[in-house]
Amino acid sequence: MIFETERLIVREWRDTPDDLDRVFEIYRHDEVTRWIGMEEPLKSPDEARTVMTRWQARYEKNEHKYGPWAMEIKASGIVAGTVLLGPLPEPSDGSEGRGEIEVGWHLHPDSWGHGYATEAARGALELAFGRYEVPEVYAVAYPTNERSIAVMQRLGMSPRGLTTRWYGREAQCYVTLPRQRAASN
Ligand SMILES: CC(C)(COP(=O)(O)OP(=O)(O)OC[C@H]1O[C@@H](n2cnc3c(N)ncnc32)[C@H](O)[C@@H]1OP(=O)(O)O)[C@@H](O)C(=O)NCCC(=O)NCCS
Repeated sequence: MIFETERLIVREWRDTPDDLDRVFEIYRHDEVTRWIGMEEPLKSPDEARTVMTRWQARYEKNEHKYGPWAMEIKASGIVAGTVLLGPLPEPSDGSEGRGEIEVGWHLHPDSWGHGYATEAARGALELAFGRYEVPEVYAVAYPTNERSIAVMQRLGMSPRGLTTRWYGREAQCYVTLPRQRAASN
């Protein structure tokens, strides 16, 4: 387990039939993948294995410090989705990277509307600012992704406006600092 919150256990995704099924179930929905830079939704369970293999390589590379992680609902054992904490990619606009850390969330549509994304992200920010002593955490979303931007606002993050710094496209950028987060609690 990475951390827990009132209703969630946040843990690494596992190469098990249940987790592979759930990865497929989450990322086969266009209403999930259209916002996260995936070219198209997953079409077969085999593609879930490719995603899992990529994530597991990422865990190794980051020495198991960073996600993507599964957020499991304690009451049901169902995985609501993915919460991410980790380094943003190298800037795609030619500017120099500063090793910025981002937080993110991808939930199965059956788990939207319960506050799980915000709850898991709060836990991820605790980890970032507490154990990892990260100075600031970013979140980026396509400008029309109102549900994701609403999560950033619920977290008390501050808008930094539009950016083209990462992922090769325009995004709304939010940031939170430890002091800001404490003030919003
Ligand atoms: C973005 C995304 C994670 C937001 O999910 P979400 O469920 O709306 O966000 P939260 O977990 O913060 O839940 C908030 C909602 O739960 C409701 N809620 C119900 N019970 C709640 C509780 N106990 N505590 C808090 N909120 C609760 C809130 O009222 C709010 O509802 P509203 O949207 O009607 O105002 C989800 O839409 C998603 O996965 N989208 C596809 C992928 C994506 O876009 N990822 C982000 C890329 S940048």
